[in-house]
Amino acid sequence: MSADLTGLTWREGEPADAAAIVRALDEWWEQRLEHCVRPQLLEHFGDTTLIVERDGELVAFLVGWLSQRFPDAAYVHFMGVRRDHRRLGLGLELYRRFAALARERGRTRLMAETGGFNRRSIAFHTSIGFTIEPGDEVVDGIPVHHDTGGIGGDYVVFSMDLREGSL
Ligand SMILES: CC(C)(COP(=O)(O)OP(=O)(O)OC[C@H]1O[C@@H](n2cnc3c(N)ncnc32)[C@H](O)[C@@H]1OP(=O)(O)O)[C@@H](O)C(=O)NCCC(=O)NCCS
Repeated sequence: MSADLTGLTWREGEPADAAAIVRALDEWWEQRLEHCVRPQLLEHFGDTTLIVERDGELVAFLVGWLSQRFPDAAYVHFMGVRRDHRRLGLGLELYRRFAALARERGRTRLMAETGGFNRRSIAFHTSIGFTIEPGDEVVDGIPVHHDTGGIGGDYVVFSMDLREGSL
């Protein structure tokens, strides 16, 4: 492993982080993503976004916010860890910090999702304590929602009850 977790800088998100996050969405995932993180998202939800850097370079991030429609929930839009920093516990640490932030603000539930193709992410989320929500169909043993929102792509939806304390 080429890295460890010492010497990392943790901070909130700013609109100017959008470019590095969009590059990461292109480079860190196995499949090209249609979605984009706009600077406006970070303008309005930067205080619930986590940016992790080494020597000024993005090595991990979590873009999330407090749900407006579901007042008990905090939602994770995208999170990722650069390849050379994986399997060090950084993904788990991102979620621990986001869960702490959500609890501080009175939230009792985390919501997240991942592409049906993304078996690594499904393994990660279930291993850190997320439950997979029922979908429209079970594909290779995984409940999947087809073409959420009609923009293509199948999704797996996760939830976690923060009162049970696994994070
Ligand atoms: C999924 C991802 C965020 C995991 O980050 P990470 O920092 O490597 O994860 P952690 O080191 O905290 O792993 C915690 C546990 O999750 C599980 N896990 C993580 N990666 C796994 C993998 N590739 N296969 C199986 N289990 C995995 C393991 O149980 C791991 O504990 P262990 O290393 O002690 O066995 C990272 O692989 C990634 O950025 N992938 C591309 C982007 C992505 O898919 N994001 C999520 C969807 S938005």
